[in-house]
Amino acid sequence: MNQPDPRSRPIIEVRDVRKEYPIGDETVVALKRINLQVFRGEICCIFGTSGSGKSTLLNQLAGMEKPTRGEVRIGGVPISRLDENQLASFRQKHLGFVFQSYNLLPNLTATENVAMPLLFRGVPRREREEAARALLKRVGLSHRLDHFPRQMSGGQQQRAGIARAFIARPDVVFADEPTGNLDSKTTVEIMEMICTFARNYHQTIILVTHDPEMASYADRIVTLIDGEIVSNQRNQKENPRHET
Ligand SMILES: Nc1ncnc2c1ncn2[C@@H]1O[C@H](COP(=O)(O)OP(=O)(O)OP(=O)(O)O)[C@@H](O)[C@H]1O
Ligand SMILES: [Mg+2]
Repeated sequence: MNQPDPRSRPIIEVRDVRKEYPIGDETVVALKRINLQVFRGEICCIFGTSGSGKSTLLNQLAGMEKPTRGEVRIGGVPISRLDENQLASFRQKHLGFVFQSYNLLPNLTATENVAMPLLFRGVPRREREEAARALLKRVGLSHRLDHFPRQMSGGQQQRAGIARAFIARPDVVFADEPTGNLDSKTTVEIMEMICTFARNYHQTIILVTHDPEMASYADRIVTLIDGEIVSNQRNQKENPRHET
């Protein structure tokens, strides 16, 4: 009998997840019965039109919300059953986030924002700011280290957002429409940055988008319609530009 390859164990396992939102007397069923496995090192795109349930699925995967039914495991840990404190600590250790609206803290500089995840890991100030500056340089922001978010363009804020998401080398990085507010040239730069970080450290990416161009960066494309997975395919990349 063939033994499964230990490297190919899924890092994310979703079993029979359903998500309902009660609205007055009615119930919105945002996810119907989701089963999904994502493997370590994969860039997995959750793809679909507006309202198909992409953000809802990401929120269940990242433990931001509890599914109505079913279970989500990350690295074997049943995150859908952890309490708030356990979840917060799990997130700080294992997960990173890139937001469409950047979500940098307005009163902190680029360096301080990027260093934040290392503060939660107990890294001393000098060390974490050094690491933050080094990473900001890698994303092309060496001239914006001490700028506040309001002093940076959208693309610059998102570069800082990516540096913040990756600095603590999380196992999984979640990104919901990370380039939704950016032009097409900046979108390509940001996507290549995310893919390069992920490949270098064998990290798993969950990328939510409605844009086929962005989905083409992924290794796996999971398509949702009305809260159901209608296809789950390995992406045959035709464009070598996307390989890193
Ligand atoms: N907190 C909530 N309360 C009630 N209904 C919700 C809530 N969040 C999402 N929904 C509903 O669930 C469905 C899926 O929403 P979701 O935000 O996941 O879509 P999406 O695919 O991310 O769309 P978009 O591309 O517009 O961001 C929608 O019909 C939405 O109205
Ligand atoms: Mg959404």
